[in-house]
Amino acid sequence: MKIIPGPASKQLGEKIAELIGVEAVPLVFKTYPDGESYVRLDATIENDDVAIIQTTSPPQDTRLMQLALIADAAKRHGAAKVTAIVPYLAYARQDKVFLKGEAVSIETIARMLKAAGVDSLITVNVHEAKVLKKFPFPSKTVSAIPLLAEYLKKKGFEKAFALAPDDGALWLAEEAKTILGGECGYLEKRRDYYTGKLTMEKKELDVYGKTVIIFDDLISTGGTIASAAKIMKTAGAHSVYAACVHPLFIGDAEKRILDAGVEEIVGTDSVSSSVSKVSVAPLISNALKELKSG
Ligand code: R5P
Repeated sequence: MKIIPGPASKQLGEKIAELIGVEAVPLVFKTYPDGESYVRLDATIENDDVAIIQTTSPPQDTRLMQLALIADAAKRHGAAKVTAIVPYLAYARQDKVFLKGEAVSIETIARMLKAAGVDSLITVNVHEAKVLKKFPFPSKTVSAIPLLAEYLKKKGFEKAFALAPDDGALWLAEEAKTILGGECGYLEKRRDYYTGKLTMEKKELDVYGKTVIIFDDLISTGGTIASAAKIMKTAGAHSVYAACVHPLFIGDAEKRILDAGVEEIVGTDSVSSSVSKVSVAPLISNALKELKSG
């Protein structure tokens, strides 16, 4: 197997290649003045299985196109099998028709990747794992929550209360709880499909005087974590922290969360950011090793 670190995940890709002890294929990459992407594989990959590492955080459309171009180049130049490793998979939240007339964006993306030459896909904490069943190739998601929880445990957060902002994220809090050893719970979150406006309801959670860590798959504008943090502060939490797998941090998300009373945010390098304190490289390396041996 050879690793192709894509332009959006160069460092992470090189780290993964080093961890599993395989060659990282150099990629010549440029953007034309009109915005189009160009890629060229600068090594032979004939008859090799290759894994392209390319996250698809914003600018997601450009990064998805780069991933498709790399897959095409790999297949065109003789790769036996192409696996797309997409640490953050864009468009995964539009996984069904919420309002009549909409596209199911994530299914469109999967079909596009298949057409480009992708044979299988591995991602980290996709928004809803069930979307992968609709993909036209074998796909799996691995969870970085245990890595985040281990990191927090080492920093002294044992027995902290693990909170999910909604019931869909409860399994993340439960997964964290198995490592932190405290309690867990969730809030009620609703989003208006037309306006995008978020409402969050307080629930009877016993967080008075406790350290609370809010776990979520991703932080985009920061609205979800900020709302949950305010509810926790009002409920008498001693201190509130936030942990997420994909720190997209759109606009002033980080400030918004800190202004809501969160002491610290911890994220992974699935998306490179100021809070990427935990690396998903070992997690992805293990998934790749399993793929190699299976
Ligand atoms: C949605 O259900 C996701 O799990 C996140 O909670 C959400 O996308 C975060 O977005 P924002 O940071 O804009 O509230």
